[in-house]
Amino acid sequence: MPQRPILVYPDPRLKQVCAPVERFDEALQQLAADLRETLLSVPGTGLAAPQIGVLLRLIYIDSSRSPKYAESSSGPLWLVNPQIVERSGAKRFREGCLSLPQFTANVKRARRIVVTAQDCTGAPLRLDVEGFEAVLLQHEIDHLDGVLFIDRVEDLGSTRLREPASDD
Ligand code: NI
Repeated sequence: MPQRPILVYPDPRLKQVCAPVERFDEALQQLAADLRETLLSVPGTGLAAPQIGVLLRLIYIDSSRSPKYAESSSGPLWLVNPQIVERSGAKRFREGCLSLPQFTANVKRARRIVVTAQDCTGAPLRLDVEGFEAVLLQHEIDHLDGVLFIDRVEDLGSTRLREPASDD
């Protein structure tokens, strides 16, 4: 089962708190591959497992898919059980989401974060990122707690219908 349908709000699965990944088995490798395949099928830079209906703490990001941020990108990354352990600064950024395809809005996030996680084999990972990648990670990690960017919008006046060519 490679590419899977992306759930769209208000699907109730998008509002659930996901369970930690405990088994780094064949099923996890398949899920990781499906997340990547699914993201590759659409314009976007990140996807969380609940967006394809699997309520486990796994995200996949690839900020190099955004032409604007490709240069500073760490490239494609899977993060299992990610946790933000440090936050600093503030950044306001216009966000979109594959599960809310019609809207974008300004969201305030930390400018720099440190994330600990595991890779798909269970090995520990630590990332220190800032700017777009930090925003992207905060957005995807939020999905694992059932939080969508619209839950964090401070200024509803910044909500806009998505322009056809925009990219998250
Ligand atoms: Ni999203």
